[in-house]
Amino acid sequence: MKTSVKSIKFLDSLHNPSKEDLKTALISLNIELEDVQTELNTSESKPYYRKLLYQNEEVELLVMNWSQLECAPHDHGASQGWIKVLSGSSKNTVYEIKENGLPSELFTKTHDKDQIFYAPVNGIHKMKAEENSDLVTLHLYSPPISGMKVYDLEKCSVCIVSDDCGAWWPDEQRQKLKEMQLNS
Ligand SMILES: [Fe+2]
Repeated sequence: MKTSVKSIKFLDSLHNPSKEDLKTALISLNIELEDVQTELNTSESKPYYRKLLYQNEEVELLVMNWSQLECAPHDHGASQGWIKVLSGSSKNTVYEIKENGLPSELFTKTHDKDQIFYAPVNGIHKMKAEENSDLVTLHLYSPPISGMKVYDLEKCSVCIVSDDCGAWWPDEQRQKLKEMQLNS
């Protein structure tokens, strides 16, 4: 990676960062597409290829290279985070939980290159690349994500997925830590 280890190491100075601390940190890293180009791989069968760039006990920094597939609605467990668009444009759909436990779409917003947006604790969202857009996104979360919930709204199911699974319904049984049926 072109970005120096020194600049990423500055993430070690964050302790229980606030929403604003995290935002400032993501901006200060000043990571651009060319800095992470060598880390990127493609994944046609999944919504994105994901590469962990840095992780300590407090934060994790990931880059995601998107295919044309939409990810599933999901939360980030007990983590909050900021997402920066390094290339292309992203369509981010935000949900609210209804009384029946099912997420319902609130709004969809497009974010273009260099824009950043917030993902709150317990917030549910889904993302996809704008059509024909080579979307690459940089994600800074605190604490590192664990116990992410992924929703299948057609089946009215939610699944807590293992940490190696992305924002899609798990292929493998072992990646399903807990599956629950929601009221419809
Ligand atoms: Fe997400």
